[in-house]
Amino acid sequence: MKVVAMVGSLRRDSFNRRLAETVRDRYRDRLQMEFADLSVLPPFNQDEELNPPPVVQAFKAQVAAADAVFIFTPEYNWSVPGVLKNAIDWLSRGERVMVGKPVFIAGASTGMLGTIRAHLHLREILASPGVSARVMPPGGNEVLVNFAADKFAPSGPLVDPATLSFLDDVMERFIQFAASAQDARHTP
Ligand SMILES: Cc1cc2nc3c(=O)[nH]c(=O)nc-3n(C[C@H](O)[C@H](O)[C@H](O)COP(=O)(O)O)c2cc1C
Repeated sequence: MKVVAMVGSLRRDSFNRRLAETVRDRYRDRLQMEFADLSVLPPFNQDEELNPPPVVQAFKAQVAAADAVFIFTPEYNWSVPGVLKNAIDWLSRGERVMVGKPVFIAGASTGMLGTIRAHLHLREILASPGVSARVMPPGGNEVLVNFAADKFAPSGPLVDPATLSFLDDVMERFIQFAASAQDARHTP
């Protein structure tokens, strides 16, 4: 499965980036993951939505060509980081490349609640008419890595055994979900 990863943190030593890299490496036999660079995207401007700048066109083409989108995001001030929302806004206008796209969500935070508020907002955003992504149902599939500082190797991957085992289960379900979603793609 060809996957594009979006990481909501631009921080060099980001836990969410390292979570994405963990997923890329752990499931490399089943996923071909490439990263979208959200740092190069300009702020969304509706004047440009039908003829966006080349970096945005490239980003939209990258997403359009993927079988699934994986989002790894921290929670900023109880919501989704601006860079991630900005990226989704670009994807939602002109050619609506997220419509029907299978989406996997995961998040890591240093606090106790593991990005749950950001996830809930993100699910609403992904359900909006311009986005209409096909997000895996939440029950039992919410990858919320709390107390991240205790669960990653220093500047390295996720190493917490219980979290990795849960991730394995969710990934198995996502791969099946994405395969069935491909058969049932809806149009805007
Ligand atoms: C601007 C800002 C706002 C934050 N707000 C929250 C928050 O609402 N909830 C939370 O659990 N952590 C919050 N944090 C702490 C993040 O969980 C922590 O910085 C985490 O390491 C960010 O993810 P990253 O390592 O991928 O950059 C915030 C951090 C920043 C920089």
